[in-house]
Amino acid sequence: MSSWTSGYVADLGYTHGFYRELVPELLRFVALAKGTRAPASGAPLTYCELGCGQGFSANLIAAANPHVEVYATDFNPAQIAGAQALAREAGTPNVHFFDHAFAEFLEEPGLPQFDMICLHGIYSWIAAEHRATIVEFVRRKLKPGGLAYVSYNCLPGWSAAAPMRHLMVQHAKSAGGPTTARVEGALGFVERVLGTEAAYFKQNPVAGPRFEKLKGQNRAYLAHEYFNEAWTLLYFSDVAREMGEAKLSYVGSAALLEHIDAINLSDDQQKLMAEIVDPVLRETVRDYMINQQFRRDVFAKGTVSYDSVTYRNAWGDTRFALSTPREDVPMKVNGARGEANLQPESYEPLLAAFASGPKTVRDLVADPTIAALGWARLTQALAVLVGAGHLQPSLPEKGLGERRKRTQAFNRAVCERARGSADLAFLASPVTGGGVTVDRFQQLFLLARADKIDDPAAFAWSVLNGQGQRLVRDGKPIESPEENLAELRTRFEAFEKRLPVLQQLGIA
Ligand SMILES: C[S@@+](CC[C@H](N)C(=O)[O-])C[C@H]1O[C@@H](n2cnc3c(N)ncnc32)[C@H](O)[C@@H]1O
Repeated sequence: MSSWTSGYVADLGYTHGFYRELVPELLRFVALAKGTRAPASGAPLTYCELGCGQGFSANLIAAANPHVEVYATDFNPAQIAGAQALAREAGTPNVHFFDHAFAEFLEEPGLPQFDMICLHGIYSWIAAEHRATIVEFVRRKLKPGGLAYVSYNCLPGWSAAAPMRHLMVQHAKSAGGPTTARVEGALGFVERVLGTEAAYFKQNPVAGPRFEKLKGQNRAYLAHEYFNEAWTLLYFSDVAREMGEAKLSYVGSAALLEHIDAINLSDDQQKLMAEIVDPVLRETVRDYMINQQFRRDVFAKGTVSYDSVTYRNAWGDTRFALSTPREDVPMKVNGARGEANLQPESYEPLLAAFASGPKTVRDLVADPTIAALGWARLTQALAVLVGAGHLQPSLPEKGLGERRKRTQAFNRAVCERARGSADLAFLASPVTGGGVTVDRFQQLFLLARADKIDDPAAFAWSVLNGQGQRLVRDGKPIESPEENLAELRTRFEAFEKRLPVLQQLGIA
């Protein structure tokens, strides 16, 4: 192990994920929904991501938000070299990557003060001394009024399954060799222990199914998720205290469905919660009510509330765009208490309005049917649709032209990569400032469309066939060229149905 890694997995690159909780407009919306003042939508910002992994989110966010200067660091130089290569290919000037460890980044002289500092999948995967460095970074570098986003594995939700992770890691430690082989070996070993009907698995019935789910996951993801030396399960109160040292206070969850009590807490639970005055105890009790295992917390350095007029104006200015075709939005959402139906009288008029394109809340309430819903129902319905991932807080119309130029270049660079790999599964939207899932085949169809190729399915097949690759259906490779082409034609039909939404999002 090299000394710079502090026991962190470094011989295997992380996945190229995109996380919408990192998107500035989403974070702004979380603050707004909680009544905490945040920068105006589309305002110029300085933004920082700590532990950016492959830097794909940072690259995408920079391309879709030319008004935001993005700074990102990760101590793995291979990942940063890859991130810088994509920024160059896409011609994104407002992203600045560093291969600094957090402690070095703290002393980096070229950094501005930040409006937002974000870290996803970091805080519970590093040792206490690195957590302390991050807190010091936030204390020194976040502007007053700035927002911080931090996600982490937490208790009590992990309590029953944590010993299963311990077993995997103990086996991996005793094995030696490269990470992938140790991960594989540890999975096989835990499988064997499970097969002996060990009392731990019998008496903690959630552990077995969790292992079954885990063992099918991407190996690079598993290595970084479970096999680091540091793996600390935190309570919300621990994180609130540590962030408190940087003068931060809790705003709310970036997972907006968690804001909605009706789908997460029973009446008795809501009544008990209402009696609790201490905000840290209240949030802790909530984690027990829903057995929370992963938190996505937004904090602010100084929370300032709105007066009622400014609050309504801030909502009025907020724009949203549908990212799921209207007919595919299910009239249900899942909360901690299971599935809940969306009331058609609230949601139908909203979805109908968004079907024709992005709208601000001011636009929406110009429609008497929507205005008649009343403020509380309207704002809650918008938060639910955002939380369920069908609606995205969006940037103002102003600046769209410049954003479109940048995202076109970024999306072209990503789609070009689709010729040889399926690693990058998101494209940037100049409308939302965030990412949209677009798989490799859809990216090849977009390339064909941009280059006016008559038969996009045949084009995609020529790309795959040229590399001896085959499509997979129901877990099995499709062998004959005719069947591969037929499968691609079916996928192209699905893509065409999605095209109007991709066009509204400025991607096609
Ligand atoms: C689980 S990955 C998450 C990456 C990224 N945030 C994401 O969600 O895709 C954690 C990342 O933190 C980086 N890391 C760990 N310790 C670090 C340190 N002390 N300084 C800088 N980066 C660190 C690792 O190299 C790794 O890329």
